[in-house]
Amino acid sequence: MSERRLLLLPGDGIGPEIMAEAEKLIAILNAERSTGFATETALVGGSAFDDGGEAISEATMGLAMGADAVLFGAVGGPKWDGVAYDKRPEAGLLRLRKDMELFANLRPAICYPALADSSSLKRHVIEGLDILILRELTGGVYFGEPKEIVDLGNGQKRAVDTQVYETYEVERIARAAFELARTRRGKVTSMEKRNVMKTGVFWNETVTRIHREEFPDLTLEHELADAGGMKLVREPKQFDVIVTDNLFGDMLSDIAAMLTGSLGMLPSASLGKADEASGRRKALYEPVHGSAPDIAGRGIANPIAMIASLAMCLRYSFAMESEADALDAAIAQTLEDGIRTGDIMAEGCQKVGTSQMGDAIAERFRTRLAA
Ligand code: NAD
Ligand code: IPM
Ligand code: MN
Repeated sequence: MSERRLLLLPGDGIGPEIMAEAEKLIAILNAERSTGFATETALVGGSAFDDGGEAISEATMGLAMGADAVLFGAVGGPKWDGVAYDKRPEAGLLRLRKDMELFANLRPAICYPALADSSSLKRHVIEGLDILILRELTGGVYFGEPKEIVDLGNGQKRAVDTQVYETYEVERIARAAFELARTRRGKVTSMEKRNVMKTGVFWNETVTRIHREEFPDLTLEHELADAGGMKLVREPKQFDVIVTDNLFGDMLSDIAAMLTGSLGMLPSASLGKADEASGRRKALYEPVHGSAPDIAGRGIANPIAMIASLAMCLRYSFAMESEADALDAAIAQTLEDGIRTGDIMAEGCQKVGTSQMGDAIAERFRTRLAA
């Protein structure tokens, strides 16, 4: 069987700590299922800047473009606060997203039964929650030009970011939303600010047209993004797939994280378009959370978002449904068994560190694969 090439980019802060746990699971897959994953590890973010003066090197970009999939930890931290804007750690991640054309960012928010009391919201609001935020990832205000701070010469400056969307960008994310909804509960909620922004009017019209022309059998609803955020907290189970732009998607997915108990629980998949000849997509899998500088180096970070991102990688890049299901089930079982990192700790549970949490999931994963 041909080799499957995985590029591992652990990054900064807790990134390397959580990536080490994903590596344990990759080793188990190779041993139990002969999956032939060949991993290569490279620097990204602040650690790449310290090494070579850039947040990602050309050599690492080359590896990412050639890999079957990229696993990404997290980047950033106070150490690099003074670094020039285009060399800051986050620039490495943004370049990967842009150059690999990873326009579709899937951020599922699932409340595991064992964690129904770990959220800051009441149990009945989040119990059984299973929603998917689909964030447009290569356009909008993150990348629009001009993007600058101009000195006006009179003691004043003007800072500009530009929100831009073109037809093909909204069409393709809308199609992705409807295609995902078809495999779920058949409902898409589009969120924008059409009451204030031209891009909001355009987004709304384009999603509405794609729905009418290509997916009339599915349900489409619209929310203004501010009210949508409120409803996400008040009654999150009314949603199935939420499709939204780059910036609103960033904010709404951090909000959704707290519906699941902790930011340490939310995985993501960033997918490009399928290659016409091979059907292959470029893809990067990463937790929604960042480098958590406040807890880095202490071995206490929750590795579940990283491990669940690996499960998404198995599912979306390698069509390994049974292995992905086994990994998700191993996570759920570990939580049922009362094993918890500090961020999701509850009374009567056993508090463990990053590595012990990884080991507990690995043990249950191995048992499931062997069964
Ligand atoms: P953060 O997500 O790093 O942390 C927010 C809070 O959540 C912190 O209290 C942290 O301890 C906690 N947390 C996050 N992940 C956790 C985990 N796995 N287990 C337990 N607790 C966890 O966000 P921030 O503090 O706003 O940002 C820190 C740095 O990370 C910044 O430089 C930011 O730009 C960067 N960042 C990177 C990414 C990424 O690489 N994809 C994403 C978000 C933020
Ligand atoms: C995320 C992060 C990134 C973003 C940063 C680190 C560039 O917050 O992936 O959610 O804003 O997209
Ligand atoms: Mn974010």
